Amino acid sequence: MADGDGGFAFHDLAPGEESFRDAVFSGLGRTPKMLPCKFFYDERGSALFEEICRLPEYYLTRTEIAILEHRAGAIAAQIGPHARLVELGSGASIKVRILLRALANPAAYVAVDISREWLREAAGELAADFPDLPVVAVCADYTRPFPLPPLPGPGGKRVGFFPGSTIGNFEPDAVVRFLRHCGELLGPGGEMLIGADLKKEPAILNAAYNDSAGKNAAFNRNLLNRINRELDGDIDVARFAHVAFYNEAAGRVELYLESRAAQSARIAGRRFDFAAGERIHTENSYKYSIDEFHALAVRAGFRPVDTWTDPDRLFSVHYLRQE
Ligand code: AVJ
Repeated sequence: MADGDGGFAFHDLAPGEESFRDAVFSGLGRTPKMLPCKFFYDERGSALFEEICRLPEYYLTRTEIAILEHRAGAIAAQIGPHARLVELGSGASIKVRILLRALANPAAYVAVDISREWLREAAGELAADFPDLPVVAVCADYTRPFPLPPLPGPGGKRVGFFPGSTIGNFEPDAVVRFLRHCGELLGPGGEMLIGADLKKEPAILNAAYNDSAGKNAAFNRNLLNRINRELDGDIDVARFAHVAFYNEAAGRVELYLESRAAQSARIAGRRFDFAAGERIHTENSYKYSIDEFHALAVRAGFRPVDTWTDPDRLFSVHYLRQE
């Protein structure tokens, strides 16, 4: 299970990957049609998402990084010495470096991600950059309960790190369930550091998801290209429009792919019909006021102890302690 190769321990919990084909058949077979947003992130989609993060209109990533950089001292003071930092959905492990540089004698960094090969690469690079830090990579689906392996180091706090406003992809009730799972995973005294996008003027939100360079559109449409590539599909991708808007009543940005004409497509041997103007719902991205997010945390058994934002109040980083 664990190997010490490349300066980090690797634990493979062999997450059962939900079949893309099953999800596409089921999502396009229902009314209204939908596709789960987690399938955005194949190689091309992940590259497009990185381009989105550098767009002038997409304030989320750079604002969160600026908050982490400006508040690193205060965050490190909350976390304290000898902490074991557990990142859920660690990706390239970029943001956690800001924390690791500020922390006093961190006892371990645990990277949890479903993408096995990227996880290995990121853990190896992080271990090389922080030679004194024990690094543990856990290949698991963090959206379901999973056990943490025994962690190295003297017993400091276990702190979960969930940046990027990925929490915005969950329905509010699922946020509560997810935070409860995190509490169980981290054990008594476990704490959480979470990035969440804030409610704001709709014009700013609408611009972030409808950038002038068309990167959000390419990212959204890539889901159809991925179906064509991986499931032997013949979808006419150009005949689907990117639609994204802030739904103020629901408190979320919604993404759709809208069929520009009546058309049909074959996917893995099955036929699917699309009416003119019919939409495939591809993502929800919830936006929370600080009070709304705190209320969800409290429902999950956490007490909000600190919240940091940027001067324009675009984004929030929350520190939560278990009751
Ligand atoms: C990764 C969920 C934070 O909702 O802003 C970017 C993904 N979708 N453009 C977001 C995304 C369309 C992003 N999150």
